[in-house]
Amino acid sequence: MEKEIFEQPEAIKRGVSGRIDLEQATAHLGGLNMSNRDLLNIERVRITAAGTSYYAGMVGTYLLESVARVPCTVELASELRYRNPIVERNTLHFAVSQSGETADTLYALRELQRKGATVLGICNVVGSSIARESDGGVYIHSGPEIAVASTKAFTSQITVFYLFAMLLGRMRHLSYEAGLELARELQVIPTRVEQILAKQKSIKELAGKYAHYKNFLFLGRGINYPVAMEGALKLKEISYIHAEGYSAAEIKHGPIALINEETPSFFLVPDDGLKEKVISNMKEVKSRGGKIIAVAVEGENSLKGIADDIIEIPKLKNGLFYPFLMVVPLQLFAYYCALDLGRDVDHPRNLAKSVTVE
Ligand code: AGP
Repeated sequence: MEKEIFEQPEAIKRGVSGRIDLEQATAHLGGLNMSNRDLLNIERVRITAAGTSYYAGMVGTYLLESVARVPCTVELASELRYRNPIVERNTLHFAVSQSGETADTLYALRELQRKGATVLGICNVVGSSIARESDGGVYIHSGPEIAVASTKAFTSQITVFYLFAMLLGRMRHLSYEAGLELARELQVIPTRVEQILAKQKSIKELAGKYAHYKNFLFLGRGINYPVAMEGALKLKEISYIHAEGYSAAEIKHGPIALINEETPSFFLVPDDGLKEKVISNMKEVKSRGGKIIAVAVEGENSLKGIADDIIEIPKLKNGLFYPFLMVVPLQLFAYYCALDLGRDVDHPRNLAKSVTVE
């Protein structure tokens, strides 16, 4: 797992390689098996997946709606396949799966295709069932992911969604300049991730300080809400500490009752339009005695006296890219907590790398 966390810069580079066209400020994705006319006819995108891939799909919905202005939803594959889903014309479906063998996602793909849907696969394993049975798709090229806890596949999956959002966006309203800005930001992400990986020692120390707690909340808003969900999943599945991901705004509708000295909260605090809202959510937790670990942009000095600990990430030009940077500290935190607790990080109890049964 540690190896795969540290492979992320290279994996993201591989996922981007040969797919960005700076001349036209767009992305090229072979394997879609769709003409530009087919892509232009897309009126809606629906994503289905499980686990970490589902959270990558959640990031995808924010990207497709904000960059490409195409309505986009995501649904758990295990729910979709039994819900007698409504398949509409001019709707493009994605089945997202690192292994390409997850039974829930494979059967959801088959149910959608049975109803006439076009389903593209976003997979890592070449020639896997989902890759073979889909109507086309995009390989994430993250390299073999062996550890049960998915890390580099998540950042490689969202890389594909950034590329696809650029492609669709530039066929619609996204200007050349805006497209170029997105392309250039995506190209610097591997370096920014490396800067965070270099903080592994301080994150390891932080894990040592918090690994004894029994419950955590992971809180984020907007495009970082899925990252909060993913961070909670990482901690749960390898350290066996209970953790719950939540929209930071939503905690006042119930979960804030959980806050006490024994329940630390991770807050994802990017310097985007929602920052002040997240900080006021932090103050609600602080005033109830909750300990706070914030993942915030370097130089953010409005958290003094609010966050008990801060993990700093590099500042980005475009807030849409913070999921890449927010998730890495959470992966490392989960990893070091699990080590601290003596867990078998690569083979956590009760879990399989690919859930090929229902
Ligand atoms: C993630 O760390 C877990 N191993 C699990 O949630 C996983 O993401 C899920 O089973 C989906 O796997 P897939 O991407 O291979 O379909």
